Amino acid sequence: MNEIEELSGLSFRISIIGFGAVGQGLAKVLLSKRETLQRMGIDIRVVAIADSVSLLKGSEGIDLEKALQAKEVSGRVGEEIDTGDGAREVLESVEHDLMVEATPTDIRSGEPALTHILRALASGKHVVTSNKGPFIHNHATLIETARKNDLMLRYEATVGGAMPIINLIQENLAGNTIERIEGVLNGTCNYILTRMADERLDYQHALLEAQELGIAEADPSYDVMGIDSASKLVILANTAYENDATFDDVKITGITEITPEALELAEKNGYTIRLIGEATRDRLVVAPKLVSKRHPLAIRGTLNIATIHTDLSKTITVSGAGAGSIETASAILSDIIHIYKRHEIKKGGGD
Ligand SMILES: NC(=O)c1ccc[n+]([C@@H]2O[C@H](COP(=O)([O-])OP(=O)(O)OC[C@H]3O[C@@H](n4cnc5c(N)ncnc54)[C@H](OP(=O)(O)O)[C@@H]3O)[C@@H](O)[C@H]2O)c1
Repeated sequence: MNEIEELSGLSFRISIIGFGAVGQGLAKVLLSKRETLQRMGIDIRVVAIADSVSLLKGSEGIDLEKALQAKEVSGRVGEEIDTGDGAREVLESVEHDLMVEATPTDIRSGEPALTHILRALASGKHVVTSNKGPFIHNHATLIETARKNDLMLRYEATVGGAMPIINLIQENLAGNTIERIEGVLNGTCNYILTRMADERLDYQHALLEAQELGIAEADPSYDVMGIDSASKLVILANTAYENDATFDDVKITGITEITPEALELAEKNGYTIRLIGEATRDRLVVAPKLVSKRHPLAIRGTLNIATIHTDLSKTITVSGAGAGSIETASAILSDIIHIYKRHEIKKGGGD
């Protein structure tokens, strides 16, 4: 009996749309956790993978090692597609239960992920995504579409990579009133500020160092202008307050004007400077702030951290790696497992 026959006919079939760092990270995690998942009685099969130019299908479950190898060798995961729309082809031609959306973020239009997610929900698929883009202007529409179709849309990986915050707010802190959320939500900015303070570097030198280490992009504006932090803050606020704030509601100041002198003065008084995102029900701000060096928000390096102030649980602080393909895939896997379990319970309940 081969491995696929050994698994019951009740497998949970997923597609992966976008096979870059995160999509491939998920494939690696599914491979490395195969035995753990089997022990948990969880049978997840990837039945389709799409990148921007190609598509790989396998109704019995794709060999993920081969898929990773093909992508590495040829830059394509499967057969070239003429339509340029692998997600649509997957939805129209591959039976599955859940789509993982991991295409690049476009914070203005949310596309192509917005269309992918809405189409997946309209055709009966649960969705897990790491893509912030669709949520920045369309949070309420997405949540409502999932609810209307009686499907789950999980997005833990959109904020803070592996740092568990979305599901913490929605599940562990359910029933609490969230009074305020504040956090360091961008690892690149935090690295630059840490290095400026430690080595008395000016902003340009610290940025250059971050770029050389691959921590900052060649065009760093998305991070250093506070745009990335603001996008994440919008997602956190909409999750906590169930409203429909958009990117335009955030007052944003980046870190480009911070001088070594300002950091030195702060240090002398027991403070440092961090780019803090702060959300209350009616106010969203991203700006550099003085933080006591003993405060948890004075976190160092590329880590992310968030503190949630609530009425019942009081103050809860979480931190973790804000990015990284495996760390982000970990958040995606946990969302998939959550949906899988709910899906199994529903089937068991004769739904
Ligand atoms: N990397 C991280 O640490 C991290 C952390 C948290 C969240 N995220 C978010 O997760 C998402 C994926 O990030 P990433 O780092 O994996 O990006 P990436 O390395 O640039 O990969 C993006 C993938 O999407 C594919 N793609 C682009 N347009 C497509 C389309 N229309 N249909 C199907 N596939 C398409 C690309 O195809 P090609 O391979 O053909 O170019 C590529 O495989 C982004 O939204 C990002 O913001 C990333």
